[in-house]
Amino acid sequence: MSTIEPIPMKFRVPEIAFPMGWYRVADAAEIGHDTLKAVSYLNQQLIVYRTKSGAAQVADAYCPHLGAHLASHDGCIKDGAIVCPFHKWSWDGASGRCAGIPYSAVPPLEGLTLTLYPTREVDGMVLMWYHPQGAEPDFEPYASTALQRDAWILFDSHAWVSTSPYCDIFENLFDTAHIVQLHGAGKMPVMRTMEPMPHGLYVDYEMDPEAEEFGIGKLEINFTGVTAIHQLFEGPGWATNFIIASTPIDNERFIQTVRLYVKDLGSSLFNEQIGRPWIERFKYEVEQDFKVLDYKKHLPKPRLCGGDGPIYQYRAYASRYYV
Ligand code: FES
Ligand SMILES: [Fe+2]
Repeated sequence: MSTIEPIPMKFRVPEIAFPMGWYRVADAAEIGHDTLKAVSYLNQQLIVYRTKSGAAQVADAYCPHLGAHLASHDGCIKDGAIVCPFHKWSWDGASGRCAGIPYSAVPPLEGLTLTLYPTREVDGMVLMWYHPQGAEPDFEPYASTALQRDAWILFDSHAWVSTSPYCDIFENLFDTAHIVQLHGAGKMPVMRTMEPMPHGLYVDYEMDPEAEEFGIGKLEINFTGVTAIHQLFEGPGWATNFIIASTPIDNERFIQTVRLYVKDLGSSLFNEQIGRPWIERFKYEVEQDFKVLDYKKHLPKPRLCGGDGPIYQYRAYASRYYV
C-alpha cells in the first residue's frame, strides 16, 4: 500500500472544465421553509432556499449591493424574501429582484437582480443547472418512475470528497475490467443496451439470476447528463435504487453522494437484510475506486484492449456535455 501526496489537477487533466448539466447541491430535506443554506460548488459561493411558493431555488451567495455573503452573520430568508445582513436590502427569492431598501426612497436600479440558477427538485435532491457560458437548460434531469410509483424507504446516504479527475468518475462504470481486477467480482458485467435518452443515457446489463450474488435479475442505469445516475437493481422480491451524484467543489475536488432507497418490504428487519449488504458493498467499492482514481491522470487516448469495456463509447456520449 503506497501513500502519495495530493497531485494538483493541472498535472493530471489537460484542460479543466466542468460539463454543463444538473448538479446536486443539497438534499431536498435539508432545505426547510426558512433555511438559507450556504454551499460552495463549481468554484462558486451559492445559497439554497425555498421561494414563497415552496420551490427549491439556488442563487449566487453575494449581494449585488456591496457584496456581502447573504448567508453570513444574520442574513436570512423570511417569507421567500432574502434579507442581506449588511444593509438589510431584501431580495425576492423567486425573481431575484430587489424587494426593498429600508433606508432609501429611491427605487433600486432597474434590472438589478440576484443571480438565480435554474433549479429542480428531483428524487430527494436539489439540482442546479450549470453551463460554462450561462446558456439555459436544454434537457431535464432524470426522475425515477419506480420511486414515484412504489413505496420505498431511504435506507442510507453517504458522501465522499474525491480528488479524481471529474471527467473520469462515471467512466468507471464502463470500465468493466476493473470490476473483476480491482473489486474482485466473480465476472465482468456485460452491457446489453446503451441508449441515448433526453435526460442522458440509459444502460442495462445482461443478468443471469442463477449466477448472480443476491440473484440480481435486472440492473439498469439512467444518467442525468454526466453529473448523476440512478442505478436500479431488482431481484426476487426486492429492489434497490442508488442515486449517485457528483458535484465539483473546485478544480481539485468533487463531492460524491449516494442515497440508497430500498423498496419497502413492510418490515425494518427485511429492509435491513436487503439494504445493509448493498450499502456496505457499495461503500467498499467506492472507497476502493478512490484509492486509485484520486491520483489518476485523465488520458485523452487510453490504449485499450479487448475486454476493456465501452470506455470510448461513454466518452463519445459524454463529449456532448463539455462545451
Ligand atoms: S451588501 Fe447587501 S444590502 Fe448592502
Ligand atoms: Fe469501480
